[in-house]
Amino acid sequence: MKYKRWYGIGLLLLLGYANTIAQPSRGKGTHQYVINVSDAVSEIQPTMYGIFFEDINFAADGGLYAEMIKNRSFEFADPLMGWEQPKSDRFSMNESSGFASAIKQGKEASNARFLRVTVKADTGYTLTNPGFRGMGVHEGVRYDLSLMARQQEGSSKLRIALVDSLGKSLGETTVTPSGKEWKEYTASFTATDTEMKARLQIQFEGKGVMDIDMVSLFPANTWKNRPKGMRADLVQLLDDLDPGFLRFPGGCIVEGRTLAQRYQWKKTVGDIEDRELLINRWNTEFSHRPTPDYFQSFGLGFFEYFQLAEDMGAEPLPILSCGIACQFNTGELVPMPELDPYVNDALDLIEFANGSTDSPWGKVRADMGHPEPFNMKYIGIGNEQWGPEYIKRYKVFESAIKSRYPEMIIVSGSGPFPDGEMFEYGMQELKKLDAEIIDEHYYRNPEWFLENADRYDSYDRNGPKIFAGEYAAQSVAIASPDNKNNWNCALAEAAFMTGLERNAEVVHLTSYAPLFAHADGWQWTPDLIWFNNLEAYATPNYYVQKLFSTNPGTHVLPLTENDEPVIGAKGLYASAVKDVENGQLIIKMVNATATAQTVDLSVEGLSRLDREGKLTVLKSNGLEQVNSFESPENISPEEKNIKISGKQLNVQLEPYSLSVLKVGAKELIQ
Ligand code: AHR
Repeated sequence: MKYKRWYGIGLLLLLGYANTIAQPSRGKGTHQYVINVSDAVSEIQPTMYGIFFEDINFAADGGLYAEMIKNRSFEFADPLMGWEQPKSDRFSMNESSGFASAIKQGKEASNARFLRVTVKADTGYTLTNPGFRGMGVHEGVRYDLSLMARQQEGSSKLRIALVDSLGKSLGETTVTPSGKEWKEYTASFTATDTEMKARLQIQFEGKGVMDIDMVSLFPANTWKNRPKGMRADLVQLLDDLDPGFLRFPGGCIVEGRTLAQRYQWKKTVGDIEDRELLINRWNTEFSHRPTPDYFQSFGLGFFEYFQLAEDMGAEPLPILSCGIACQFNTGELVPMPELDPYVNDALDLIEFANGSTDSPWGKVRADMGHPEPFNMKYIGIGNEQWGPEYIKRYKVFESAIKSRYPEMIIVSGSGPFPDGEMFEYGMQELKKLDAEIIDEHYYRNPEWFLENADRYDSYDRNGPKIFAGEYAAQSVAIASPDNKNNWNCALAEAAFMTGLERNAEVVHLTSYAPLFAHADGWQWTPDLIWFNNLEAYATPNYYVQKLFSTNPGTHVLPLTENDEPVIGAKGLYASAVKDVENGQLIIKMVNATATAQTVDLSVEGLSRLDREGKLTVLKSNGLEQVNSFESPENISPEEKNIKISGKQLNVQLEPYSLSVLKVGAKELIQ
């Protein structure tokens, strides 16, 4: 009886750990990897794996920023865009129930327009706002409405309801503005049903003339329940990456199509109603994906970005205009003698983030509710600029920033491409200037990523550090609307990332780009996270990022096969790190081939490993496979415990897979 029980347990163990039991196999075709833990190559920066945020694809307005009303302040180029009036009136032009007109007063004011609504019919007058491709409404969630109003003539009551496509109410409230002075009115209600494409109806009851402005609706369950805050499900996906930094606000959006359309952070802080709306440069960028209703309300502005970085324990990394508009568009240049306001924006930003509450910009931060400094350490000058005009302007910024804030780390840029004449020129000039960190971008096909896993092996260890600031494998071609977030791309990125990790001595920051895309409002694909008005899903590329960013280690270790690093020979890629805070050895291995491969790992430089480790595998049997709203976890990590005896590990790398093996070793703790 006793014998039978032990036999049963033994069999179970054998089945459970058959693939990964730590017996030296030395079979034919088995790869022999050697890792030496006492021979750390270099430290890994805590900033190694971060996030690139840009308001592209409805990432901010219509996405992370949870405002549900589009064109809430009537400041779009077409002031009534997003606001629908009664159809019968509109088409017959008889205005029988009433009419609404945008009025602009105070030409220079940031929020100069408001809406004047004249109600003529006893039956009332109705305005509808469809939100950003509809409004996502969740049953049981409270929605908080606010608006500015004043009653000019007569008296009207506002009946405000979220309705579905058939006009059924999903929750409603009433507001009764009174008096001729502007006042804020607020009301809340709880949704009775879930709907992806709800609309907000404002019914004006009672004849009269009323002015309204800043019509706003937010779910109450935002990230950290902050009023008028961010979509919690989207921030959660970011937070789950445990990012080392948050780069914001882009991307090309920093530069603008013209200088007038550049991102100006000072216009994005302070009271929300005073933040000056600006066209989103992605509004008109791609004729194949026109987005005429894409504007930046800046409800998500620099204060909120800093706060988000702080929430996630990430270093804030703002990127500023250097006085050159996007060189793919106008390439407009500010003349050198007129560069001061741009440089001052950089200096003032440092004061805004870090300055004392007695300083002018530190006070603005404090008045917004954050007297403590944000401890900003990095600042980026220019996004994707190239050529001598960039270098000229960079020098001015560098000298002004360093003379006032010598400890600030400046990120410069090498242009949009990872090679070619302009890249070489930029790198050479920036090296001459002893640039600290240079931002490189690569949107290339998956083959490029596989072939370039050794890109940084030859970079000068004493030269500038590298920020792999925007990268993503493109399944068809750069900016093609047919690009997919498929497993082929994600796997190639994983292989490439073993090269980033192996070269952490040179590569200090990395981020996939772009980050977000609204399923009905995107301009650019591929993207790390896709969402609609109700939900979001992580792409295979996201899971690759997550496996690296949540297993970053503290030091790079040499991992070799036949004394050579593992960079694509027989389709395999690998890197190893140790974590001296938690006492862990972490090995990342990519099998980019269609057949399983066996690896024996010999760990040298310590006396023992824990007897159990963890193997996480991300894989798919189809390179074209993707995740989707219907199948969000089609490709997602699977985790299992593995038994270990001694210091020799044997692992089966499944076809087309990324495997992360994590083993404890107390001796590694420092
Ligand atoms: O990530 C999309 C765009 O690609 C960025 O805005 C730009 O920097 C790059 O060209």
